[in-house]
Amino acid sequence: MKETVIVLDFGGQYNQLIARRVRECNVYCEILPYTVKPEKIREIAPKGIIFTGGPNSVYDPASPHYPPEIFELGIPILGICYGCQLMAYSLGGNVISATDNSVSEYGKAETDYNNDCVIFKSLPGHGVSWMSHRDYIDRVPDGFRVTATTANCPVAAMANDEKKLYGVQFHPEVNHTEGGREMLRSFLFDVCGCKGEWKMDSFIEDTVAQIKAQVGDRGVVLGLSGGVDSSVAAALLSRAVGRQLTCVFVDQGLMRKNEGDFVENTFTKLFDMNFVRINCQEEFLSKLKGVCDPEEKRNIIGTEFYNVFWNKIRDSYGSGFFAQGTIYPDRIESGKGDAAKIKTHHNQVGVPKDIKFEGIIEPLKDLFKDEVRAVGEKLGLPRELVWRQPFPGPGLGVRVIGEITAERVKTLQEADAILRDEMEKCGYAKELSQFFVVLPGVKTVGVMGDARTYDELVAIRAVTTDDFMTADWAKIPYDILGRLSNRIINECEHVNRVVYDITSKPPGTVEWE
Ligand code: XMP
Repeated sequence: MKETVIVLDFGGQYNQLIARRVRECNVYCEILPYTVKPEKIREIAPKGIIFTGGPNSVYDPASPHYPPEIFELGIPILGICYGCQLMAYSLGGNVISATDNSVSEYGKAETDYNNDCVIFKSLPGHGVSWMSHRDYIDRVPDGFRVTATTANCPVAAMANDEKKLYGVQFHPEVNHTEGGREMLRSFLFDVCGCKGEWKMDSFIEDTVAQIKAQVGDRGVVLGLSGGVDSSVAAALLSRAVGRQLTCVFVDQGLMRKNEGDFVENTFTKLFDMNFVRINCQEEFLSKLKGVCDPEEKRNIIGTEFYNVFWNKIRDSYGSGFFAQGTIYPDRIESGKGDAAKIKTHHNQVGVPKDIKFEGIIEPLKDLFKDEVRAVGEKLGLPRELVWRQPFPGPGLGVRVIGEITAERVKTLQEADAILRDEMEKCGYAKELSQFFVVLPGVKTVGVMGDARTYDELVAIRAVTTDDFMTADWAKIPYDILGRLSNRIINECEHVNRVVYDITSKPPGTVEWE
């Protein structure tokens, strides 16, 4: 049984980050909602449990609590922020529900650590921690001692070594907490006794063995989009079952220039599998003829994709196993809001009722995105595929504003290829999170070769962001913008003007439609 740590989710904003930090220590961990039953935890038999932060006050009757028997399971627990307050409150300590802001701490706090405590043993006695709390603990439960303090926080950390229960009021998982990673390491290795054997090489070996055992001599079909997740899933399945795997790639003609060929070449040349490419640009374009409304376009592209894909599967591969590239963040049940409501599992929505597979295989379902990328690299996928920028499901369809025609798609593909080429050449691509061009559907007057032109406008969009929820427009140097403008106008037919989008998100979105 693999060594597991549970991150018990009380609705904090850093929960996935905590899980990532644990995995960076080569310890496998799962995020579970606080509604998970103690029996389930016993069954998993984790090496340790981490209580996350959360937005609530432990005194609020509606706040998330956990049956106190969890403290009697003999499993080490680390409570973070709200998790620390909950531990104190549940075990008889005192938490002050701050009514004024004088004691709340948000941001960096100068913190004194007691190095006798195993959690802080490898740190200096003083450092900066990152706080975000209003309530605070003013008396620790019996059996606990105070192990860190700040000017405003009498209990910045507490410990009961005998029961292996630890709490920190601050957030060791964020970069701003100096030595935060060491604190988590100490908890995992010195307190929980983890060995740290969760590595991507062993993940590949184990998963390949599991898939082989599950599939036997039957077939597996995978919908391959050319995105990171489905590509890595395809590579892994190919390693496990070779030509028993069929990847179905629907090329709706709305991908970037030469991208369909690139995907086909990658998977037919580098991997052993059956690769089926369905070229259906004409069908898509005829369905989209005359349609300008963005939502209607998205709907048509989505529905048509679904129909083409499932009709092919129904006719040729509607048995054996169905595989897809679901990754861990796609399926985490959050402790936020109505915790009983479980996020719909997207494969169950996707498979039409009349197609009955023997089972669903999701080989990446336990991995975070960067772990998926690491697996992709180890399996030999090209870097440009593994490190691909996000690309919207409806493809270039949402970047051709107004009616989508074959000619306009081609213009967009050419301009986009120039943008990518220039960004790679000048090395600026690595500064950007995402960049692309848009055809806004505006025609403007120009003069080229002494003659009047009336042609399309191209807009360049480039953003920097950590999470795509908010984004800043990228401050691309003028000389690069100048080169881009020259090349796009000179090399793309029907384009006579280029503009640069200087809108952040919010108020804009990254895409234009
Ligand atoms: P927005 O435009 O919402 O984009 O600020 C945020 C990120 O999501 C991508 N995006 C999509 N991805 N299907 C997708 O799979 C879509 O319909 C879609 N729309 C936007 C966008 O490229 C950006 O990375």
